[in-house]
Amino acid sequence: MATSAEIEEVLETGLPEQWYALLPASWVGDEPVGITRLGRRLVLWRDGDGVAHVQMDRCPHRGARLSQGHVIDGLLTCTYHGMQFDGDGTVAKVSAYPGCTLEGMHGLRSYPAAEKANCIFAWMGEGAPAPLTFPEEFDDPEWSHFLCTGTWQGSYLFALENVVDPMHGSYLHAKSYTLAYGSGFDEMEVVKSEDGFTVRRTQQVGKNFDWTEYHSTGADWVRLDLPYPPGAGPGGMFRILGYVTPVDADACQVFFWRLRKVDGWERDLWRFMYKSRLEERHWNVLEQDRVVIEQMEQPEAEMLYQHDIGVTHLRRLLQRRARDYLKSRTAPQLAAE
Ligand code: FES
Ligand SMILES: [Fe+2]
Repeated sequence: MATSAEIEEVLETGLPEQWYALLPASWVGDEPVGITRLGRRLVLWRDGDGVAHVQMDRCPHRGARLSQGHVIDGLLTCTYHGMQFDGDGTVAKVSAYPGCTLEGMHGLRSYPAAEKANCIFAWMGEGAPAPLTFPEEFDDPEWSHFLCTGTWQGSYLFALENVVDPMHGSYLHAKSYTLAYGSGFDEMEVVKSEDGFTVRRTQQVGKNFDWTEYHSTGADWVRLDLPYPPGAGPGGMFRILGYVTPVDADACQVFFWRLRKVDGWERDLWRFMYKSRLEERHWNVLEQDRVVIEQMEQPEAEMLYQHDIGVTHLRRLLQRRARDYLKSRTAPQLAAE
C-alpha cells in the first residue's frame, strides 16, 4: 500500500502514464527545440516529412543536449561530435567514424507523439501508450479556435485546481470583460460523467464561469464556457478547452484553446475582433490567475468549504491514479520474489 508521501512524490511532477500537451506545433520548425516537461528535458524536432518527434534531450554518446544541435538530412544531429538519430531514436550515422558498430543501434528514448489543433502531445509513460481522444471541437469545422499558452511559475496542481473552482470567477475576475456578471454566492455540485466529472454552480448558469467539465481521455483536459457581452460581436458563448502540463514541481505550462462556434462573415468578424481587441482582454483575465497561482502556498491546515468540492474531487481522482501507478510498478517486483 502506497504511503501518502509516495503518492505526493508521484504527483509532484505529474503522473507519467498519460498524454500531455507539450508545445504549440508552430513553435517547432527546422531546428530542434529543448523544453522541460514532468521534470524531464525533452527535444522536439521535425524529420524530412515534417513529422514531429519527442525525445530525451541528452545525446547517448557523451550527454550533450541534442536541442543544441540541428536537423540535417532529416536526422537529429548532435552538435558535439555529429552523431545522428532518426525519429525512433536509432543511431542513423556516426559521421566521425563511418561504419561504426553503433550505427543501427537504438540509443535515444523516444516518446510517442501526436499533433493536433496546433499542438504537439506526447505519451510520457513506459510501454504502449494509452488511446488518446481529443475534444470533439478540435475536429469540428463549426468551431473556430486560437491556442494560447504560457509558463506559470507555480505547481501544475494549483493550475488544475483553479479550473475546477468556478467560484473564483466571481471574485478574482469580478471586474473583467467576460466575468463581471452574476451573483457572488452559490452552492456547488459535482456530477460524475463517463470520463470524468462536472463541477457546477447550482443556482446560476450562463452568466459567469458557472461550470467546468473535467475529462480524462488519455490526457486530462477541461471544457468551460464563458458568456460574451454583446460588444464581442455575433456568436454564442466563448468556449475554453484547457490542458495543464507540469514543467517540474514548481512550474507548469498552461494551454488554453479559445473557441467560438461561428461561421461565414461572423467567423471572420470574431477572428478579427479577437486579434485586434479581445485577445488582450482575455490575456488580462488569465494574468489574474497566473499572478495568484505563482504566489500560492499550500496552508498547513486548509480551511476548505462547500465550494471546494471540485478541488477535493480532483485530488481524490489524481491520488487514486497515483496509487494505481505505484501498485503497477511494485506488482512485477512482488511477483518476482
Ligand atoms: S555527445 Fe553527442 S555526438 Fe558526442
Ligand atoms: Fe480564472
